[in-house]
Amino acid sequence: MPGYITTFSYQSAVSHVPQFAPRNFKHFCVEPVTGAMGAVVEGIDLRTASDEAIAELEQALVDHLALMIHDQDLSPAEQIAFARRLGRPMPWPFAKKMEGYPEITELIQEPHDKYAFGGTWHSDSCNFEQPPKYTMLYCIECPPVGGDTGFANQYLAWETLDPELKAELEGVRGVYSTELGYGTGSASEEVQSNATTHTIYSPEQLNEALHPVARTHPVTGRKALYVNDSFTVSFEGKTQDESLPLLRKLWAHAITPEFCARLRYTPGSLAIWDNRCCLHYAHSDYPGHRRHMRRIVVEGEKPV
Ligand SMILES: [Fe+2]
Repeated sequence: MPGYITTFSYQSAVSHVPQFAPRNFKHFCVEPVTGAMGAVVEGIDLRTASDEAIAELEQALVDHLALMIHDQDLSPAEQIAFARRLGRPMPWPFAKKMEGYPEITELIQEPHDKYAFGGTWHSDSCNFEQPPKYTMLYCIECPPVGGDTGFANQYLAWETLDPELKAELEGVRGVYSTELGYGTGSASEEVQSNATTHTIYSPEQLNEALHPVARTHPVTGRKALYVNDSFTVSFEGKTQDESLPLLRKLWAHAITPEFCARLRYTPGSLAIWDNRCCLHYAHSDYPGHRRHMRRIVVEGEKPV
């Protein structure tokens, strides 16, 4: 049955050094959650952290791409103050702002909601010319189990592509649009109607940007695959029909299980991740429960 034999072509297990033994940090401890990415940080209070501790936290993000920091006690103003130490909190035009705190979007999943906000693999707001470098979610309420954020390391996704395909994709740009996630191209009417409970999208706000399909991280200098099925409509200069076969291949490769991690919340947890080198996914596996997060995104650079 040759048609059923899987080709084991991924080099993920040998192509990088897993972060099993993280560097020592002076101000907190870091416990990696997988060999691919993700870590839990313990021993830091984000309200009172020194500049040196914040610099270390950014280094931990460089090392692990996504961090979960438990047992925080952050008011909206304190969460914004923490975000400002990492860059400029970006206004997000597609959602209602928290009253009195325009930097914050409240993500609330009610027990009866069928579809999760962010329930597709994506990098945030890559329809912007300068997409956010970081996204943070502060957990107010979550189900007893479930509601994790999933992540996929896109350095590994790029580095494990066939060399010929990498060569073909060098210098290629993609079209990144809100059409798929918020517009007429979104998956179903139900998804759209659910999204409208959170968003103030209108067709006039449809926007798009061109970005390299493999972007270079400004800190590490490593290339990361930068396509996702929430925003990447096509390759520049090609139709959607012409683009879809290769896009589908890349989307599937991007979420290879060996590239992935999940981080679990409890009330008071703050998750933060680097959109420049990982995808994320809101797991909707908690029917009948409520989940409430405060979200802030921090402005990034134009992808190159
Ligand atoms: Fe997201």
